[in-house]
Order: sequence, then C-alpha cells, then structure tokens
Amino acid sequence: MEGNVPVNPYLTRNFAPVRSEDDFELQVTGEIPEGLRGTLYRIGPNPQFDPIDPNYHWFTGDGMVHAFRFENGKVTYRNRYVRTPKWELEHAEGRSLFSGFNSTLNDPLAQGKDAGVANTHIVSHAGRLLALNESYPPFEMAHGSLDSRGYVPDYRGRVTAHPKIDPRTGEMVWFAYGVGDQPMSARVSYGVTSATGKVMRRDDFQAPYCSMMHDFLVTENYVLFPILPLTGSHERAMRGLPPIAWEPERATYVGVMRRDADVSTLRWFNTGACHVYHPMNAWEEGGKIVADVFRYDSAPLFPRADGSPGQHSMARLWRWTFDVEGTSDAIKEAAIDDLDGEFPRFDERRTGLSYRHGWYGADTAATVGEPLRLNTIAHLDNRTGQRSVFELPGGDLTSEPVFTPRSADAAEGDGWLTAVIWRAGENRSDLLVFDALDVAKGPIATAAMPRRVPFGFHGNWVPCGVHASR
Ligand SMILES: [Fe+2]
Repeated sequence: MEGNVPVNPYLTRNFAPVRSEDDFELQVTGEIPEGLRGTLYRIGPNPQFDPIDPNYHWFTGDGMVHAFRFENGKVTYRNRYVRTPKWELEHAEGRSLFSGFNSTLNDPLAQGKDAGVANTHIVSHAGRLLALNESYPPFEMAHGSLDSRGYVPDYRGRVTAHPKIDPRTGEMVWFAYGVGDQPMSARVSYGVTSATGKVMRRDDFQAPYCSMMHDFLVTENYVLFPILPLTGSHERAMRGLPPIAWEPERATYVGVMRRDADVSTLRWFNTGACHVYHPMNAWEEGGKIVADVFRYDSAPLFPRADGSPGQHSMARLWRWTFDVEGTSDAIKEAAIDDLDGEFPRFDERRTGLSYRHGWYGADTAATVGEPLRLNTIAHLDNRTGQRSVFELPGGDLTSEPVFTPRSADAAEGDGWLTAVIWRAGENRSDLLVFDALDVAKGPIATAAMPRRVPFGFHGNWVPCGVHASR
C-alpha cells in the first residue's frame, strides 16, 4: 500500500516499466569468451502508459525487446517497444485505451481495434525475428535495429509464444488455443512452418475444454498438447467472474498425435489437475514418450472460477511418461528434482530428442503462498543426477537463463549460459555469463547496465550473421 491506495504488484520494483528506448555500451568485468558472438534477445511486458485497469495483469503489457549484442569483446544494449497497432494507437492518443484481460474497461476509442501486444517470447526462424504472444499473430521485428515490421499475415491468426524448432529439419512446429469465431473457444490449431518460413499447415481440432495452453511438447515424431485446468470462459466473464481461472475440478489432458498425421488421430491421455507453464523437453524412448515439465499443484497468478484468490503454488521438475504403444491413457508422473523453479531451458540442438543438461531459475527460499523469487541459477545433469547451483547475493533475482553452444558442433551442454539479473540493492541490472557446465563457480563475465531491465519472460540467443539473412 502507498497511503490508502493499493499498489499493483506488476507496476512496482523490477516489474515496473522503463519508458526510455536506449543504446548503451555496457561495462564488462571478467572476460567475454572469444566464441560468444551474437545477440541475446529478451522480451517482456512494459506498458507504454499507466494501465486503465487497477487490476492490471503482468501478461498484458506492451512488449519491449532488450537486445544484448556481443561482438569483439564488447557488449552493447538496445531496447525498443514492439510497435503493434495497439501501441501505435495509444501512442497517438498519449494514454492507455485498452484494458488487458478485462476488455469491459476499454476506452471507446479501442472499440473494434486490434488489442495485440507482443511480449512473451522472441524467436528467430527462417531469417525472421518474431515477437510472440499466444493471443495474437507473430509480429516481426528487424534483427539488430529492432525496428517493428508488423504482423506476419501468413499465420492466419494467433500462434503460441512457444513454438519448437526441429534441429533436424529446421521446421517450426506450433499451436494456438482459443481459435475460431467464438471467444475462448475449445478449438486448437496445430501448425508447421517450413525451414524457409512457409506456413505448411494449420489444422484445427476440438480440445476437451478451453485451457490457457501456454506451451506444448514436440518429439522427433510426435506432438503433445497439454489441456490443463487453467480455463478460459467467455460465459463466465459475462457474469462478471474471471475470464481465466483455475478449475481443479477438471482433469488434465494431453493430446498426443504423430506430427505428420491428421488431427483426427489425436489420442487423449490424462492425469489429475495440475498446471504447467513450461516444459523442459520431450523425447521418444522404448516405445514411450517421455517429457520433463515444471509442474505446479495449482496454477499460480490466476484466481479461482468463483473469483476467490488463487494460490501461489511452487513448480518443480516432473517427468511424464506416455505409453503410446500400450492401452492405458494414464500419464505416469514422477518428481525428478526437489528445487522450486521456473523458466527451464536446455541445449536446443536436442529439441525433441533425449537430452542430458537442463538449466532453470530456482528459488532456494520458496515460501508456500508467496510468489516465486528466482534467486538462483540451477543446472541439472540428467545422466549423473547431479544438480549444481549459483545463488545470487543480496536479494538479487534472475531472469530465464539461456544456453548458447560454444560452436555449432560442440558437445551437448558445452557453451555458456547468459542471464539478465536484477541487483535489488542498486535497483539496476547486470548481464551475467556463466560456463554452462559449471554455474556453481559463478559468472565468468559481467556486463553492467546503467539502469534496470524489468522482469520479462523469455529470450533467445541469435549467433552473429543471422540478421544478414534478411
Ligand atoms: Fe512462457
């Protein structure tokens, strides 16, 4: 509280937006490895103007891209807004017009206009840098300059923020939920974009219910669609109740099909209510599909269907097994780690294949009922079962750590981890570089920001030269 006015948690501390677009050369301590050349692109919500809705939700702010370019031992930083039609309209008016999840609060000027934000993930595929949000089509930015280029029309609608790029074929495999004419429908799209950027298929199917399906799983031959009981309901919203809510009375379903098959062949596996924002990876093994996922007992960040507050439950790494050659539709579940965390990443040259090394942000002091505070960077070696961690000092918090291989043909895990962290005491950010297989020894280089980079969602490393392809 400030005075008697409740402070929106997503507008304070390092959730608060920065409103300048800057270019900085960062001060480096330690040594930037010779082979680390390219750009770490990160993205997150950063509302251009103060939101209309007093209950502004973190997921609904305008996207801002933060690019850290590593070249010749120097690190430079650039940030730019993603100038969606919503951003342009509000920019012209000099104030917020759209109201995120609660569109009943929209300004009349927003009526019938595109409300798109692109704030969740930034992915480079087929020469395009795509700013992604699961409720809107991909929005293209220019590599390097971060100029906004606009929606990519080929996708014909919304697309997940978590597509998977097949390392063998170069295809981008994706989905979208809540598609079609009815708001918050149970229809889901399955899509594939070729290695050259051509959308090859977009096929719709009916899920058991409308789930806020943030991410999915892809193996060499299969695709898996998790339908988790964080539900969307337009009818509920019309009654003044939460449009998106946790409904643990419903089961968890995962639809499994071969990637090259028709969507009519989907087989639904099930387990009890749980929530997953982010899987680590999935693969095929001995006639089964195995998936490692950060699993919550209940979905955090959203209320219950009756409007009562949700719980901040913790996520840990669990392993799901699907017996695709057997007759049981039950998902076998087992915990494989005991540290609370989120934002798992791995060496994405192993996407859809068995993998050894995973990394994630962790909370070593997690308290039930409190939001996750990622004070630690963790590395898990699936072969040895060994976990190593680097705990940040002084209340500092990390973003998602991103892996970069030492070279295109380096062994799995041989490379670096980069993470943007918030220095709580100084209210400022640093970019840390770790030896990916030895995070415990601490950063081997630090690039200091003169200001904060607000907490965001996801990022990706793009090697030098990729931007030249367009
Ligand atoms: Fe995500």
